[in-house]
Amino acid sequence: MSIVIDEATLTFTLNTRSATYQMEVDPHGYLLHLYYGTRSKGRMDYLITYADRSGMCATPHDVRDRTWSLDWLPQEFPFDGAGDMRSPLIRVRDARGIYGCDLRYVRHEVREGKYALPGMPAVYDEGPADGAQTLSVTLADPRIGLEVELLYGVMPELDVICRAAVVRNAGAEPFTVDRLQTACLDFTHGNFDVITFSGRHAMERRLDRHYADHGSFRVGSRRGMSSGQYNPFMILCDRNATENSGRAWSMSFVWSGGFDAEAERSQYAETRMQMGLADDRFSYPLAPGEELIAPEVIMTYSATGLGTLSQNLHRCIRTRVVRGEWRDRPRPVLLNSWEAYYFDFTGDKLVELAEKAAELGIEMLVMDDGWFGARSDDFRALGDWYVNEEKLGGTLHELVERVNALGLKFGIWVEPEMVSEDSNLYRTHPDWALAIPGKDPVLGRDQLVLDFSRKEVRDNIYEQLCAVFDQANIDYVKWDCNRNIVDLYSATATDQGRVLYDYTRGLYDVLERLVQRYPHILFEGCSAGGCRFDAGMLYYTPQIWTSDNTDAVNRLAIQYGTSFGYPASTMGAHVSACPNEINWRTTPISARGTVAMAGGGFGYELDLLDLPERACEHIKQQIALYHKIEGVVREGSYFRLSGPADEACAWEFVSEDGSMAVVGMVLLLIEGYGAARYVTPRGLTPGAFYRELTTGAVFAADALMDSGFPLPVNAEPYMGRIYRFERL
Ligand code: DGJ
Repeated sequence: MSIVIDEATLTFTLNTRSATYQMEVDPHGYLLHLYYGTRSKGRMDYLITYADRSGMCATPHDVRDRTWSLDWLPQEFPFDGAGDMRSPLIRVRDARGIYGCDLRYVRHEVREGKYALPGMPAVYDEGPADGAQTLSVTLADPRIGLEVELLYGVMPELDVICRAAVVRNAGAEPFTVDRLQTACLDFTHGNFDVITFSGRHAMERRLDRHYADHGSFRVGSRRGMSSGQYNPFMILCDRNATENSGRAWSMSFVWSGGFDAEAERSQYAETRMQMGLADDRFSYPLAPGEELIAPEVIMTYSATGLGTLSQNLHRCIRTRVVRGEWRDRPRPVLLNSWEAYYFDFTGDKLVELAEKAAELGIEMLVMDDGWFGARSDDFRALGDWYVNEEKLGGTLHELVERVNALGLKFGIWVEPEMVSEDSNLYRTHPDWALAIPGKDPVLGRDQLVLDFSRKEVRDNIYEQLCAVFDQANIDYVKWDCNRNIVDLYSATATDQGRVLYDYTRGLYDVLERLVQRYPHILFEGCSAGGCRFDAGMLYYTPQIWTSDNTDAVNRLAIQYGTSFGYPASTMGAHVSACPNEINWRTTPISARGTVAMAGGGFGYELDLLDLPERACEHIKQQIALYHKIEGVVREGSYFRLSGPADEACAWEFVSEDGSMAVVGMVLLLIEGYGAARYVTPRGLTPGAFYRELTTGAVFAADALMDSGFPLPVNAEPYMGRIYRFERL
């Protein structure tokens, strides 16, 4: 059993394959956190030390014990109002506007299977074979009619524990939720580093590592989207933790809107890690009988460093967040029209491009931005989702038939959450955009955001999209989103403090309807590149365009950072032209191919008709190689062998049975008559021999994993290589 409950002491123990999580209800009714660490038996309540920590520490009136205070006790769902002055998970204002609550245990229940969240993304189970269980613990404050049901979803084989919470108004008066975090981990002791992933458009998710010292280290997004500035993913680890050693814990938010993530060290050197909805511009009124769901947080623990932590998350997201027909299938090698033509294409030009693509072995043509309404540049037409047949020289159906006749699938770009001021949709329904009456709207890429908190807006967009997708044989849809929410006024909302939350739920509503109606379509998420790369989107879109930056060297850092929380199968990665259009660097096609092949959504994004024959030959070879390795890239265990600041940045995928390993690397330190660099693989079968398939050289796994193998000396700058090791 994954969930073990000692009913006498109300101690709840949750076990996964290699970790144990424990909590208890204390004599005063508060739910205390005891342990999240290496799998263990026993009761860990001894980790809490009760001592007089000064009369300054607050105690509730009925406790009156100076060795007891929520200001230092480790908790499961700390709240505003009982003397814990660290960041709470919930803050509530009652009908009279008074803050403060007092949440104590009322009941618990165990259910078979992992909980689901209605209308929201969450880790799912696939029946009894997964061995998943759910623990529900309800806390309540009868004074204001507040009930919080804490949900713990235990996925034993994946080594993850998921948390969500349902806040209910079980009383007779309304109240307002002013802050709602989903989960925290309270550590009674320890010195930790906190790892987060920061960036911006075209430089997303680069790793930051800080000492979690006194005070609070907090990242988040107040942009209405999870954002490229900070990713909704946080790791806390031992200060000396490495890829292969040390303890590490992480939280991943299964939510695509704003978020907060925080690591706070208290007066008693305790650490609280927490994650949840963004506080900014959030205040959610709940009438009697209504409820509000705190989105899911996925937690995992590793006693053997950051590598195992990432592998746990990769398995979980790849197999139990991503859904649908494309979850376990090879994704077609695609050619995207954006960097080839931007807005400047016709149907004939696309067919010409597709002809060349077919020759090289490319399997799908994606028609990016520019095919609809009067969209001749990025100043107009978002919201007018009807085909510009004049530009395409015929119907969409005809164009797709021509492309399909060449043996290629066809994909299309959309940006459904947005509207241009210069569009028929905006002219007809100006109040459908989020904008503040009487205030000049803030534009982003010259567009406004549609009010997806409103059903009639969502229905209109959904119907427009269906009308397009029903016209032709569409195999792929790229769902873009190129600005954040600034002006927050919904013309129909009862309270503006709920709009950001309802917007994200609205987005999920449209996505869910589409993935149900078009199960065969491969959806790829995108937000000006990878500015909304989160586990929430991955529930609907099996892959996400990782970044608009396709420079091989910058991509090393972006994909390295992304790999901590997300599997390679979810990363869209393309080879583009040189010099690169964002940073003007020139890298060899070997580097661009090697880096792009480290993503499950591999493809090209350049004008093939403008390439020398030598480059075309290269592309053919790359595609042939990709077909050989894609299964291991998509489903294998991932190892970061070195990073983007090292002499050579290297990574590895090992098939589940260990019979095949794929090592990719790009040489970064370029020196005259240089010293030899080595790459040391991991995860091979000890005692076995492996043959490297390009050179035929045979290596003993143990020596390879000890001393590595040398890379070419005096190689061309930024040389990229893929090595395939097959077990003999
Ligand atoms: C931003 C995306 O990241 C690009 O790949 C491209 O689709 C453009 N939008 C199109 O406007």
